[in-house]
Amino acid sequence: MYFKTRTHTCGELRESHIGENVVLNGWVDTRRDLGGLIFIDLRDRYGITQIVFEPNFSKEAHESAGSLRSEFVISIEGKVRKRPEGTENPAIATGQIDVMVNKLIILNEAKTPPFPIRDDVDTSEDIRLKYRYLDLRRPSLQQNMLLRHKMYQLVRKYFDENNFVEVETPVLMKSTPEGARDYLVPSRLHKGKFYALPQSPQQYKQLLMVSGLDRYFQIVKCFRDEDLRADRQPEFTQIDVEMSFIDQENIFEMVEGLMKILFKEILNQELTIPLPRLTFDEALEKYGSDKPDLRFDLEMVTLNHVFENTSFKVFQDHIKNKGIITGMTAPGCGEYTRNQLDVITDFVKKLGAGGLIWMRVKDNDLEAPIAKFLTDEEKKNLIQALKAKPGDLIFILSGSRLKALSIMGSLRLEMARRLDLIKSDSAPKLLWVTDFPLLEWDEQTKRFYAMHHPFTSPRLEDVEYMESDPARVHARAYDLVLNGTEIAGGSIRIHNADLQAKMFKALGITDEEAEYKFGFLMNAFKFGAPPHGGIAFGFDRMAMIFAGESSIREVIAFPKTASAVSIMDDAPSTVGEDQLKELHIKIR
Ligand code: AMO
Repeated sequence: MYFKTRTHTCGELRESHIGENVVLNGWVDTRRDLGGLIFIDLRDRYGITQIVFEPNFSKEAHESAGSLRSEFVISIEGKVRKRPEGTENPAIATGQIDVMVNKLIILNEAKTPPFPIRDDVDTSEDIRLKYRYLDLRRPSLQQNMLLRHKMYQLVRKYFDENNFVEVETPVLMKSTPEGARDYLVPSRLHKGKFYALPQSPQQYKQLLMVSGLDRYFQIVKCFRDEDLRADRQPEFTQIDVEMSFIDQENIFEMVEGLMKILFKEILNQELTIPLPRLTFDEALEKYGSDKPDLRFDLEMVTLNHVFENTSFKVFQDHIKNKGIITGMTAPGCGEYTRNQLDVITDFVKKLGAGGLIWMRVKDNDLEAPIAKFLTDEEKKNLIQALKAKPGDLIFILSGSRLKALSIMGSLRLEMARRLDLIKSDSAPKLLWVTDFPLLEWDEQTKRFYAMHHPFTSPRLEDVEYMESDPARVHARAYDLVLNGTEIAGGSIRIHNADLQAKMFKALGITDEEAEYKFGFLMNAFKFGAPPHGGIAFGFDRMAMIFAGESSIREVIAFPKTASAVSIMDDAPSTVGEDQLKELHIKIR
């Protein structure tokens, strides 16, 4: 069909265009029929322009406008005029003008969409995802796509200016499950063999350092078959980075430079660098988490010293067994009812706590079921350690270190929610968490796992304990945390085959297994591997926080549901017998 292409977008016309003849193309956003006059809001990516059909101006155009409905695609020709006095709309950029139409071409009709194309609609996420192409017409999702676009450009420019080389790495690779589960791809040519989709390009980027590329980055899709949450997708995007001949400080500096630009260009905020740092141990003791949310205070305090000589049996036992007593003050909550306290106690019990000790802080005393077991001295020191004031409520949890601290960390977040401590305009809080443990013990399989990944270097001063006391070895690993979400993680790598072998040993990986899984990498390290390290950012998570969204699905064009399904195209789906046969696969 013949139509004139636009002279302007729907977000472009201003008073300076008054009197001009223009052509606009777009979608019918809304339509109002006012006794003979038809007003249409015409929409495209750039904005909305009001167009007017008046029988005296063009009888023909006015007549055909009668059939227009929401989401019809049209092309119009007309004249820009100043809106009549009192009908201006200062809320939109084109609000001072409208366009009197003398020619209308309907380029395409549209069925009534399953939900109105507006931001404030109450539609289930499943329906939105089924019609994602319509959902993506909504202003907020268009904004989110533009925000991602801006981030890509800023990231590429920054790394290019800093001498990084963008290299694409394979999407079909060898399966080396460690961490999450792999997505597998069967090979047609090699019966019974499988490729895996990369959980990250970790090994390739290390090989690129062996190749002498020196500085690498890539904006890259990663795939992990793991349980999904609001900030996890089975396929997600990383900004992947690796550098040679550097130490941790060089990586921090490079990352902070990027974050400063993103904060400025996306949030219009001056980020103060260098960023604050907490070690993993500090973060755990103060905030009960390796990704602490510092937008509010509520600090936890380790109380073992207060109860060193206590006669209260529960505390005595935990101190004896190298456990921990951790406390937190909930300001102004001293009058919580028994019912409220029961609900909070249930909250921690569901997380695995045996119970929760609470105390109301009074003028000169503590009121609590356990108060009678404590000496005056202990009460006084407790109040002091927790900086508690009359009218406050004290929570105490005791038990094994990691468990008690993590549960108190969850309670900390829960109390922040109850006390409404995170405001929508709270300043974003970005920090480094450093010195992670190298290894993590798994009770179920009775073995150590790499807390980051098996190529992460131990702190050099800890290497001597790798055999005798693996649990005390810390890693040269770091995470970047924004508002309580881990947005990036990385480490200085092992670049020496002997140390790598020690690491595999600590992980209980046999020589044969290491050879089979990672032989190519270990072999490469024998040909002159430079010291190197890097980091990877969760691009979607960053975009989510920058966009003020609470789910990463809102910043991904075509996301999967929480059960890893794409409702729109119905993936995963069954495939034909022929296809399976070619792949040598039989479904049981
Ligand atoms: P890591 O596994 O910590 O490190 O991943 C880096 C960052 O990616 C994001 N992320 C995710 N985002 C969305 N959905 C997921 N399922 C998901 N999983 C992780 C997080 C995380 O901080 N190769 C190493 C990096 C390195 O050592 O250089 C790696 O992948 O924001």
